[in-house]
Amino acid sequence: MADKIKTIYVCSECGYESAKWFGKCPGCGDWNTMAEEIREAVRGKIPSPVRAKPTSAPVPITEITTDDEERYYTGSKELDRVLGGGIVRGSLVLLGGDPGIGKSTILMQVCSHLGKILKILYISGEESKRQIKLRASRLGVNSENLFVMTETDVEIVANQIQTEKPDLVIIDSIQTMNFKELSSSPGSVTQVRECTNILMRTSKSLDIPCIIVGHVNKDGAIAGPKVLEHIVDAVLYFEGDKQMSYRILRAVKNRYGSTNEIGVFQMGDNGLSEVENPSLMLLSGRPKNVSGTCVACTMEGSRPILAEIQGLVTNSGYGNARRMSTGFDYNRMSMLLAVLEKRCGYYFSSLDAYVNVIGGLRLDEPATDLAVAIALVSSMKDIVVPEDVLAFGEIGLTGEIRAVNHAAQRVTEAARLGFTKCIMPWYNLKTLTLPEGLDINIIGVRTIRDAVAALSQQS
Ligand code: TYD
Ligand code: MG
Repeated sequence: MADKIKTIYVCSECGYESAKWFGKCPGCGDWNTMAEEIREAVRGKIPSPVRAKPTSAPVPITEITTDDEERYYTGSKELDRVLGGGIVRGSLVLLGGDPGIGKSTILMQVCSHLGKILKILYISGEESKRQIKLRASRLGVNSENLFVMTETDVEIVANQIQTEKPDLVIIDSIQTMNFKELSSSPGSVTQVRECTNILMRTSKSLDIPCIIVGHVNKDGAIAGPKVLEHIVDAVLYFEGDKQMSYRILRAVKNRYGSTNEIGVFQMGDNGLSEVENPSLMLLSGRPKNVSGTCVACTMEGSRPILAEIQGLVTNSGYGNARRMSTGFDYNRMSMLLAVLEKRCGYYFSSLDAYVNVIGGLRLDEPATDLAVAIALVSSMKDIVVPEDVLAFGEIGLTGEIRAVNHAAQRVTEAARLGFTKCIMPWYNLKTLTLPEGLDINIIGVRTIRDAVAALSQQS
């Protein structure tokens, strides 16, 4: 079809097109946003709508069947849950994450299980065959069905997939893939997008599932998997602190399942192992009888997870009070400090305040507000939060504690882990139905003041 491939430069911010590259986009004035793209000149006439035949005729929705997609179970319950119940045939999954977080490791472990029943083609553009073999031996992977190929030319890769017709393809990583027609270097936005398109066309046409690894670079110097999110069926992110052993796998897009689920893993000497009881792991090593710490319960999909939140409030040495937050939204923390100051009379303006969520967990649920506020007030006033107390609830701008969803599940998880007192929104009490025989004392609170008062009664 294409008789000539033409290169143009398109601004990734405003869409300005030009035949020439500019450092500064003439359209929007942003720097370094012009990316190379190819345009295929189509020969011949564009078919008229009358002559064009539809590839799929419209059918009534009542006649469309929803037979379950065929799925491959990966052998890891955590990964299967995040995927929505295994890898769907013909799907394209993007696995993103910082370098060294464990993407290659988890995929090799998937090969170890699926290699028993499926033919897998593992394409690596990053490591040599020897390095891959070393990792595989370390992880105990030794399957005759696992084929390893070190290649960076995406067309050769696509041809290989077409001739080999494996049951599963793994590309490690998309940043190393190279499409020769483009002059930009591997890893650039255009390269990454075009290579993914080629892989998508190949795997969709053959109904082969394909897992693509993508590195995320914080400063965005290398094109991250962000540009691919709309092309692929599912986007999983591997998160966690490299210094720590926990890893959290999160789905940010999933055409075949929920995006709320997370999987928790632990990196050990023999690769990643599943953590079936994340709350227990996240709460291990908790300091006792100290101020500035409070346990919250957050819902990650269908699972309640307990997390320790620490707050530190100190006198500010400089004119401007410092605020820092790890694992909790910075703006939300500022809002909570403002509410505490205006509505409850805790003056933070001349104090530095720090919030840290233990275990590298990222909390983005408003239900964790109360625990953050309690941790901060506890540190400021030196009030010890007893170790068997847990708090959850959303804080409104008038200092009220608002109802949250899944209250019963949260309380049940807290009781399961040995918490005996739960400070929660008073508005949740009316509809709260707990399982029989739960040994936990529930304290319903309407305002932050109530919550702090409830704490003082406890200690
Ligand atoms: P890797 O999967 O190579 O990361 P990525 O592909 O995301 O870049 O993981 C690399 C890290 O994992 C490395 O720091 C070593 C560590 N690791 C273990 O701790 N145990 C193991 O069994 C393996 C295979 C790796
Ligand atoms: Mg790797």
